[in-house]
This record gives sequence, C-alpha cells and structure tokens, in this order.
Amino acid sequence: MIYLDYVATTPLSDDIYQTYTQLLKKYFANADSAYRLGYEVNRLMETSRAKIASMLHVKEDELIFTSCASEANNLAIKGVAFQYQNRGRHIITTAIEHSSVANTCRELAEVFGFEVDYLSVDNQGHIDLEELKSLIRPDTILVTTMYVNNEIGVINPIKDIAKIIKTVNPKTKYHVDMVQALGKLPVDLNDIDLATFSAHKIFGLKGSGLLYKKHSTTLVPLINGGQQEFDLRGGTSNACTNIVLAKTIRLALESQKAHYDYVKKLNDFMREEIKKREALVINSPEDASPFILNISAPHYKPEVLVHDLESSGIYISTKSACSSKATEASHTLAAMHLDEEVAISALRLSFSHLTTMDELKTFLKALDESLTRVRKQR
Ligand SMILES: Cc1ncc(COP(=O)(O)O)c(C=O)c1O
Repeated sequence: MIYLDYVATTPLSDDIYQTYTQLLKKYFANADSAYRLGYEVNRLMETSRAKIASMLHVKEDELIFTSCASEANNLAIKGVAFQYQNRGRHIITTAIEHSSVANTCRELAEVFGFEVDYLSVDNQGHIDLEELKSLIRPDTILVTTMYVNNEIGVINPIKDIAKIIKTVNPKTKYHVDMVQALGKLPVDLNDIDLATFSAHKIFGLKGSGLLYKKHSTTLVPLINGGQQEFDLRGGTSNACTNIVLAKTIRLALESQKAHYDYVKKLNDFMREEIKKREALVINSPEDASPFILNISAPHYKPEVLVHDLESSGIYISTKSACSSKATEASHTLAAMHLDEEVAISALRLSFSHLTTMDELKTFLKALDESLTRVRKQR
C-alpha cells in the first residue's frame, strides 16, 4: 500500500498505541470522582494539560480538551459569537476554510443573523491584507482564518493578520485553525486569542482535539453539563485520550524540524516530476506547506483516477475528506478562480516522514499508467 493522504488522517504511532492501551485498562475511573481512583486519573490528565501548556508556551487553564478540531472550531467561533454579540455581530473569515469553520460561520449568519464577510484569495490561495484591513469594523467581534490550508497547503501570514486586527480594532478576537500546522510549522500563540488542534493529523488518536483560549477571551459553552474543562465543555472526560495527547504533541514537536526538511525534499522532487508531465498542473503555490501538493489533471475525472490508483494500492484524494461527498469543484479551488477544468479535476497528495522516495516513484509510474488507461472523459 502507498498512502499519500496524510492530511486526511495519519496512522496511529506504535508508541501512542502502546501507551494508550495500557492507560485504558488501568485508568477507567471517572476523572471527577471524589475518591483515589478518580483523583489519580484527574492528576494524569492535568499533568498532560500542563505538559502541553509548557510545549505551547501558554497557561494550563487556557487549554480545553475536545473530541476533535471540528468541535474546537465550533466552540471557538460560536462561543465568541454568543459571548460578544452585544458588542457586535460581524465576523470575518476566508473563502477557503475547512468545513468546520465555513459551515459554523454560515450557520451563524443563516440561523443566528450574524454578518459574515469572506476574505477573497488570489489564484495562489493568498489573502489580501489590505482587504482584511478594510473589512474590520468597530462591531467586528471575530476574525477566523486557518494557518495552513488543508487542500492546497497555502500558509496564511498569521502574525501579520494578528497585527492588523489588533491595530484596527483591539477588541476583535483572532481565532486560528492550526490543524495542518502543528508539528509541521512553528506555532506561536502569543498574538492569537484562540487556536485549534487535532491529534489524528499528527499520528495520534482520532476523537482527540484541543482548543487554546487566551485568559482574556470568554466563551459561551456549547455543551452544557458538569464542571469539566473549566465549565466550557460538559461530559465525562475522555481521560486516557487526553492523557496521551501530551505525548502525541511532544513526539510531533521533537521531530518537527527533521520531518519538515525531509518532506520538503519529497515535495521538491514531486514538483519537478509533475512539471515534466503535460497532462498535469500544480495548484499549490510555491511557498505552500511541503506536506501538501495539490495538482490537476484537466479533462480527467479525478474520482476515476483516484479509484484507478486505488486498484494499484495507492491512496490519494480529490479534496478534503470532510467534503468528499460533494461532486463539484472544491470551494478552495473555486475561490482561487482557477480555470473551471483545472478546478474540477484536482487531486490532493499529502506526505509525511513515513513517505519514501521509492513510494513517490511508484506513484508517478502508476499515475502515468492511469492517465493512459483512463480516457479523457470531458
Ligand atoms: C484545517 C482543518 N481544520 C479542521 C479539521 C477537522 O479536524 P477533526 O477531524 O479533528 O475534526 C481538519 C481535518 O480535516 C482540517 O484539515
């Protein structure tokens, strides 16, 4: 099998698997139970939180364990919107967010009457900072942008965005979806009010997410219940999952530089190879995250190519797994105003430290064969 879809999810690390299964057996007690077994689970969970806080250079009570990054994005965006709605009802996001941000903003507009502005992107996926500056108003309560886009890998200048927000309206909160950045690019939470992370993108468990929320930011909770997670997320703690998150993040950060350098070489190789092929074009900008390479095979049906490659044991995707059921062009490529044929024929390749050069060569050979075998259908 050749797996080139690490952006969709990663295989579980052996190390995390071992630790997690050991924890599960022993630490079954409710972390909120008022007896020794419960205290012990709670202590381990809070130790994990403290370790993560130290790695991310934030305070322990600024971290909220969630069930996934989608939940963390919902909590951050709706939580801010509901909390600060008396201050203003205007939100700014970008046209290329993950569905968990895009659909949350859409719901806030359609169901709750908030006003949402979408920053446009150029044909490389870059936003325009001048446009951002012009959109921020006295009633703007939130700006939410991703750090690294999950389809084309474009990197947003989050430091510059934060600076503009805090200059134009210091009361506006800035939330960043950092799911595709953690363990890959430097994460600095200094100028950011809220940030989201997911464990299964960094060889950790599925069903494990994290929200960073600065002390100065207040949220209305979405899951009302007990006192868990500082009253921001009711429900019995998924303790062992939360305990093992510290190790997951530590392993990702420890090898970040080496993995980045390695994957950059893979990406450089692939770009050169793709450029040699007339049937293909590259959609990811040159300065994108090297972990993602979005290409198109104009006039071929991407899902036909994906299934043809699958029959050779090769796994790639057409777009984000969360939007894979939709048949039209991805909203990211549509927002880039690419040629229609390019936009509807995209293939997303994504790499990790587990990807080998031999795998990429085998993939290229199989892709060449697929392009010959699968007839152009449009
Ligand atoms: C940029 C981005 N944000 C959010 C998510 C959602 O993560 P999760 O699967 O943990 O909900 C993903 C996953 O595809 C993503 O790529």
